[in-house]
Amino acid sequence: MSREFDIDPDDYVREKPGHQFLVRTEAYTDADVFELEMRRIFERTWIYVGHESELPDAGSFKTAQVGRQPIIVLRDKQGGLGAFFNRCVHRGAALLREAEGTVQELRCPYHGWVFDLSGKTRLVSERNDPGGYGPGFEQPEGLVPVPRLESYRGLLFVSMDPQIVPLERYLGLMKEVIDAKLDLSPTGRIVVASKPYVARYQGNWKLQTENIVDAYHFMHTHGAFVKLQAKFGDTTGDFGVHKGRSTREMREQRFRGATWSCLYGHGYAQVPAADTDALLDGEFGGLYRALHAQHGDEGFARIASKVTSTVFPSMGMIHQQIRVWRPISPEETEVLIYPYEIEGAPEAFNAGMLRSQERFYGPSGFGMTDDTEIFARVTQGLRADHVKWLVFDRGMDTDEQTASGDFRGLPSSEAPQRALWREWSRLMRRSASEA
Ligand code: FES
Ligand SMILES: [Fe+2]
Repeated sequence: MSREFDIDPDDYVREKPGHQFLVRTEAYTDADVFELEMRRIFERTWIYVGHESELPDAGSFKTAQVGRQPIIVLRDKQGGLGAFFNRCVHRGAALLREAEGTVQELRCPYHGWVFDLSGKTRLVSERNDPGGYGPGFEQPEGLVPVPRLESYRGLLFVSMDPQIVPLERYLGLMKEVIDAKLDLSPTGRIVVASKPYVARYQGNWKLQTENIVDAYHFMHTHGAFVKLQAKFGDTTGDFGVHKGRSTREMREQRFRGATWSCLYGHGYAQVPAADTDALLDGEFGGLYRALHAQHGDEGFARIASKVTSTVFPSMGMIHQQIRVWRPISPEETEVLIYPYEIEGAPEAFNAGMLRSQERFYGPSGFGMTDDTEIFARVTQGLRADHVKWLVFDRGMDTDEQTASGDFRGLPSSEAPQRALWREWSRLMRRSASEA
């Protein structure tokens, strides 16, 4: 990337409040825009790197990618968590290549330097051998920490920007979404126990950010699923996020509730539970009644609602899964899906949630393959860049801005998609010298 490359965000995102919202084709396809996104978005926001339950013991680690930067999240001997650049301070070798695991210490495979679990340099191999390091040697203190690491209810985020706003402020309205999802547990905790399902799709990372909160596409993109469910019935009981026994019922179920465009680029779509009494009297009534007693009517209604959500730029919570996506190039993205368990819920409840997810997501699910096919089609279509703009106007005239600055939209409004582009535009506006 040329150092001088810069963009005028107004050439890429055009908003005329109340009635027009356009995004330029090159925002998805241009290699220079992509490089700028790595610096100005992925290295300037909070990026989700894992859940505390994935790091249970001293020496438990996860590796992650924050934009272009490889990092390690590691639990030390005192039980604390640290995040470091995954790079030996000697001559740069990545210390860990596995996605996760447990180590006693970090031993560099290149020349054998050793770092302890809090990142401190413990051994410089053959330090005093002939031709080794002299008395004036300034031994690096240890691995270089990532500037910020914060947790919200066990969800771990890092940022490369030391000046970034605190995580809780960044999450804003999304805290309520996360709270409702985690409060489905009587202990308020989830457990990420399984390895992720990992896939790649042909398309830009923002297609996933847009799609995970796109209520509008469902009845169309997933038409085959809709027909099958209408024919064979809704078999997912309490667990389904795709409710309804007929096409009409499915449409009605989906288009209730609200969509949100949140500050800092987050978005979500919320559908209230069709019948909370049925939950309280149903198979898992014990769990639901305890939650109702704990959180009251309003809190329980929030917990029982179905929410699909995205935390800008690249993490989402949908159904009972955490989803992370990682940009690889303008036209390639990796997606990791982590199903989680609700701590304290009956075994059959967690099993049912997992079966229900398998039905829609993953390689043999009915739904996710539809979306990745659509992403490839969009990618193909966008190559026709003689056509300049994509249209994101839907629902603008009925969106309402709240006192907090967020926007509330009607059920199939493109409010959550506009959240992404508003924040994209804000962050890409920084001058090249800051990037
Ligand atoms: S690069 Fe790690 S010890 Fe040399
Ligand atoms: Fe979809």
